[in-house]
Amino acid sequence: MEPVIPDLRSLPRRAAYEKLLEMQQLLLEDSTDVIAGMATISALLHHAFGHLWTGFYRVVEADTLLRVGPYQGSLGCQEIRFGRGVCGTAAADRRTVVVPDVHAFPGHIACDARSRSEIVVPVFDAQGALLAVLDIDSPVLDAFGSDDVAGLEAMVAWFARTPYVHLPA
Ligand code: SME
Repeated sequence: MEPVIPDLRSLPRRAAYEKLLEMQQLLLEDSTDVIAGMATISALLHHAFGHLWTGFYRVVEADTLLRVGPYQGSLGCQEIRFGRGVCGTAAADRRTVVVPDVHAFPGHIACDARSRSEIVVPVFDAQGALLAVLDIDSPVLDAFGSDDVAGLEAMVAWFARTPYVHLPA
């Protein structure tokens, strides 16, 4: 049986990410499958923190188009163009974007009206190419800070250590 994902909402964020990184390491240590990695990381984060939406948008046309990948939560949009919304901005700029109030972000794409804040982290492969973005939506205003940036970037660093075969778009 797989371990139960603990509810880490009462822990300081830094300690919570340490725990999740430990679990991720155990679960994915023998895996080189990028989809298994995305699915596992989405489940860990979503259930540990009770987010609204947690998952990946994959680069399916370089510098042009993101398509939804493994995620947890209510339905997400199918495709997002580079430069559009928070995901497309993080993908185009290849940097983590924290949005404390989604209503104040011009061009935010609302997939769920309950979303109040968001963080999007770029995911790079072993060659340094942009593979995907990790998108997390919260129903709480200003839910993400520097500990989230550091913790999430550490989790997605797994993809840069993992050799994998490119999937067809
Ligand atoms: N809010 C995101 C779109 C993706 S969904 O919310 C799952 C954005 O502005 O890029």
